[in-house]
Amino acid sequence: MKTKLKLAIQKSGRLTEKSLQLLSECGISISNGSRSLIASAQSFPLEVLFLRDDDIPEYVENGVADIGILGQNVVLEKEKSVQEIRQLGFAKCRLSLAVRRENNYTNISDLNGKKIATTYPKILAQYLAENGVNAEIETISGSVEIAPSIGLADAVCDIVSTGSTLLMNGLKEVEKVISSEAVLIANDSLSQEKQELLNRLLFRIDAVKTAKNNKYILLNAPNDKLEILSNLLPGMDSPTIMPLAKEGWSSLHSVVPENQFWEIIDELKANGAQGILVTPIEKMIV
Ligand code: PRP
Ligand code: ZN
Repeated sequence: MKTKLKLAIQKSGRLTEKSLQLLSECGISISNGSRSLIASAQSFPLEVLFLRDDDIPEYVENGVADIGILGQNVVLEKEKSVQEIRQLGFAKCRLSLAVRRENNYTNISDLNGKKIATTYPKILAQYLAENGVNAEIETISGSVEIAPSIGLADAVCDIVSTGSTLLMNGLKEVEKVISSEAVLIANDSLSQEKQELLNRLLFRIDAVKTAKNNKYILLNAPNDKLEILSNLLPGMDSPTIMPLAKEGWSSLHSVVPENQFWEIIDELKANGAQGILVTPIEKMIV
């Protein structure tokens, strides 16, 4: 039988849809209408295993799965021997400490002698030690946010994304422990065949990620401004310049990184650019 790369993703939760979306942007569609545990991809030698995110590091370590997509927070907590090979830029969140809203918390030393409920005991223990706080850690497996209201703990250490879970449970965020986002992890000793499949997948993931971090920009300018405008555009290479029907004018095309976008637009305008058009890029191979 032909070798397939086995990818573990979260069965149901914050990362599920976005993990499948990333695959689809990589041209890999999964038919899993019935939501079975395993599904095969149509156009790529890939099998997707739907698992609890907490179990993914272990399954990737022991080779049940070759690679996995999950939150960095879970990778850090589980301390398994796996390689983190890409940050994926979605499911951004933070692991934070929160207390009851009415608590007049001033600083981290307020947590001395207190009980903190969490599903992340290792990360929390390290954070408390680094901050010289002596608190009791109550490890629970879920619904951490209700611990203070049922008297199980004085504080919680849990994932905050939009903040609505904290809000609904009368809690407020007081300290950020770590930032996290979705990452791709891999087994330490993939066969050469699987490593080659992984490289093909990474090529696609990188093209999707690069495209998302860049915009395609088109603008018109009088010819005597072209040089200065070109110098403002970092571009992939040198910008494309095409003459316009209007005498003495040209159209200039280039690629601009998302994070410098507004700054660059302002400078382009200030230096004579007109009719600026910006469009998203679907795939970008550099
Ligand atoms: C976290 C956390 C909250 C929720 C916070 O769970 O435990 O339930 O997300 O998100 P919000 O700030 O947008 O309300 P997570 O998705 O990590 O799932 P899991 O712990 O069940 O795996
Ligand atoms: Zn989980």
